[in-house]
Amino acid sequence: MVVSWYTQYLVGGYLKGKDLLSISDLSADEIRSLIIGAADMKARNNWLTTLGGKVLALIFEKPSLRTRVSFEVAMRQLGGQVVSLSPAEVGLGQRESVADVVRVLSRYADVIAARTFSHRTLEIMVDHSDVPVINALSDMEHPCQALADLLTISENKRGLDGLTLAFIGDGNNVAYSLLLAAALTGVDFRIASPAGYAIQERLLSLARDYARESGSQVLSTEDPSQAIRGADIVYTDVWTSMGQEAEAEVRRRVFASYQVNSELLSLAKKDAIVMHPLPAHRGEEVAHDILDSPQSVVIDQAENRMHVQKALLLHILGGTGIL
Ligand code: CP
Ligand code: NVA
Repeated sequence: MVVSWYTQYLVGGYLKGKDLLSISDLSADEIRSLIIGAADMKARNNWLTTLGGKVLALIFEKPSLRTRVSFEVAMRQLGGQVVSLSPAEVGLGQRESVADVVRVLSRYADVIAARTFSHRTLEIMVDHSDVPVINALSDMEHPCQALADLLTISENKRGLDGLTLAFIGDGNNVAYSLLLAAALTGVDFRIASPAGYAIQERLLSLARDYARESGSQVLSTEDPSQAIRGADIVYTDVWTSMGQEAEAEVRRRVFASYQVNSELLSLAKKDAIVMHPLPAHRGEEVAHDILDSPQSVVIDQAENRMHVQKALLLHILGGTGIL
C-alpha cells in the first residue's frame, strides 16, 4: 500500500528516532509535512501532554537566545522536560570526550539538540548517541532555522510555489541550509556573495541535483542586484558568524557593498518580504530601518522556530497520535 506523505503526517512517527544534522536528512515531503504540522500546532496554540516523561538535553558551545528558548518552550508545551547545558558545565571535548558526553546523556535524555562550532562534533555525537541528535546550528548548517523560514515564507506567500528567494551576503551555515531547503521544495534560490565567501561549488552542486528534481533554479553570483531583481523574498544574515570574530574587520570591508538597504531592496518585487535569522548587526548586513519596516517578517521567523521544533520533536519522538 502506498501511503501519501499527508497520511504519514496524520499517522505520525515517520521521523521516529531520526537524527537531523542537515536539512537534506529530510525529504521534500518530510519538510512539507513538518511545515503543515507546525502551522497546525501554531493555529491550535495549546499545551499538550503528549511528550510527558520525555526529556530533551540541550548543549550549547556558542551563545543563543532563539534556539535555546524556542526549544525549551516547545518541549514544555508538548508536556516534556528540558535540561540545558552550557559549554562550561559540560566541557565538551575538554573535561571529557564528545563520545562519552553523549553516551552518558543518552541514558538520561530521549533526544539531544546541540549547537557546536564544528559540524564534525555533531557527527561524532550521532556515532555515539543512542538517542536522536538535532543540529541546533553548526559551522555548516542551521536546519531548524531553514524549517522556520519555510513556514514563515509559506504563511506570507500562501505556499512555496513559484517563488524566488534572494540571499545577499555570506555563504554561511544559514545560507547553506536555506539553499538545500529551497532546492528540495522547489523555491528558486539566488545568492550574491563576494569572491571567496560564496557557498562552495561542491555544495552548490548537491543543491542543483535537488533543484533539478523539484524543478527549481540555483544561482550563485557576486552581483547583489542580479540576485535580488524581481525576488519575492530577500534574506540576509550576519557577515561575521559566531567563531569568526577575528575576521570581523576584514569582513566588514569585503561585504560593504552587500548591505540590504532601501536602494537594493527597491529592485525586488514590491511585496517582497525581508528575512533574517537574528541576531542582526544593523548598519552592517542590513540598513538600520529595514528590519522594522512592514516588509520585515523577522519576528515571525523567530516565533516560528518554536512551532517547527514542536512538530520536529513530536515526530522524532514518535508521538503524533494527538494530531
Ligand atoms: N536564529 C538563531 O539561531 O538565533 P540564536 O543564535 O539566538 O539561537
Ligand atoms: N550565521 C550566524 C547565524 C546565527 C543564528 C552564526 O552562525 O553566527
